[in-house]
Amino acid sequence: MGQPMERLPGHKNNGLFRKKSIADLIAGTKKGKTLRKDLTSFDLTMLGLGAIIGTGIFVLTGKGAIMAGPGLIISFILAGLACAFSAFAYAEFASTVPVSGSAYTYSYATLGEFFAWIIGWDLILEYMLSVSAVSAGWSGYFKTLLAGFGITIPTELTAAPGGLENTTTYFNLPAFVIVLLLTGLISIGVRESKRVNNIMVIIKVLIVLLIIGVGMFYVKPANLTPFLPEGFSGVSQAAALVFFAFIGFDAVSSAAEETRDPGKDLPRGILYSLGICGVLYVAINLVLMGIVPYKDFGGHIDSPVAYAMSVAQQDWLVGVVSIGAILGMTTVMLVMLYGQTRIVYSMSRDGLLPGFFSKIHSNLRTPFASTWVVGIASALLGGLIPLDELANLVNLGTLAAFVIISIAVIVLRKTQPDLERKFRCPGVPYLPALAIIFCGYLMSQLKWETWERFFIWLIIGLVMYFVYSRRKSKLNQE
Ligand code: ALA
Repeated sequence: MGQPMERLPGHKNNGLFRKKSIADLIAGTKKGKTLRKDLTSFDLTMLGLGAIIGTGIFVLTGKGAIMAGPGLIISFILAGLACAFSAFAYAEFASTVPVSGSAYTYSYATLGEFFAWIIGWDLILEYMLSVSAVSAGWSGYFKTLLAGFGITIPTELTAAPGGLENTTTYFNLPAFVIVLLLTGLISIGVRESKRVNNIMVIIKVLIVLLIIGVGMFYVKPANLTPFLPEGFSGVSQAAALVFFAFIGFDAVSSAAEETRDPGKDLPRGILYSLGICGVLYVAINLVLMGIVPYKDFGGHIDSPVAYAMSVAQQDWLVGVVSIGAILGMTTVMLVMLYGQTRIVYSMSRDGLLPGFFSKIHSNLRTPFASTWVVGIASALLGGLIPLDELANLVNLGTLAAFVIISIAVIVLRKTQPDLERKFRCPGVPYLPALAIIFCGYLMSQLKWETWERFFIWLIIGLVMYFVYSRRKSKLNQE
């Protein structure tokens, strides 16, 4: 259903910056049958943790350690700060426009259609590829777990081409299969329920605490020196990679319409989940880097946490870690895949993507066909592209979205100072400016090939907007 636009002076109906009215958007969520509003800040925090703790910490730590040495701890702090500064801007938006669709909807209401399209297109990249990246991480632990039972998958089918150094690989079969299975679940409407998510999150967090609690007794301070063997450039490059570990707090905002008091609970859910992860990540990194001489991670790049436990001779923990990692990454994929279908659905409902993507299956009442299109694409990418390449591209896309949101907060304080904001980002314009600087710095650390791929994606998006979406937009039809 299209929303009438806000008739601000100087904004034409066919302009690039035509906007949806915030009042209408909010009113739209109260019409007819509405979603049950029973999520509290506790549930949202759990949802955030469900989406955050996964491949970043369980897998990418290995590659990060090789890049930065023990200084990886600083990399995590840098990436965490970039997210924390951006999270305040996110929280302000989420509390001002508590409507699902996340940053895409916020920008449609405040910056106008063109920016909304760019952010939406960018979020499709973030969500789709993060499912692929997490599936590749999942596959590494799945392989370790199967090996524990004496089952081996032919190596050629355990990683994307080029995914393992000095080894010929063709396709990441476990990654491909798990995404298809999850797509099947989501397409028939089995959303990860609050309770299932909460249980998985509790298991994940307990396992992380267990690793920290047991592992700290095996830390050898000698492993932490020299602290920066690869210099500060190693630390910054690793920060740009492990930024992936924090992604997911933004998914909290997708539950806006199911939240009891969104103005208060959304900012809390976003900030608490990020804060808890930040503390856990720094602690677990201290332990991992203290147990394993960083170069040794090289041979165990796809399951570094399990490896650290075997170095500490805590073999009973290796299986536990693998199960925790597998469960943890499964919730990340579910939340991201689900978030993806929601974004594509909102963009299609607004006319910016073909109507096919918002078609609801008559019996299942889910966007069945579009879920499969998105799911198959994510599964294939996870099977064919190595994890760190995917993660870098997701990071660039997400960092770009954080920069735009932070700029938007500053701009909106000037252009719409009287807008009702239930949560106000503190220290505007300085805090969002820090977010822009930190995120911009991390973006500058990513390789040129990653930028190239990102530009190609953006150019395809721009062509699509000017050839199709701009004309078909519901706002244009009104
Ligand atoms: N933060 C999520 C993960 O690390 C995407 O798996």
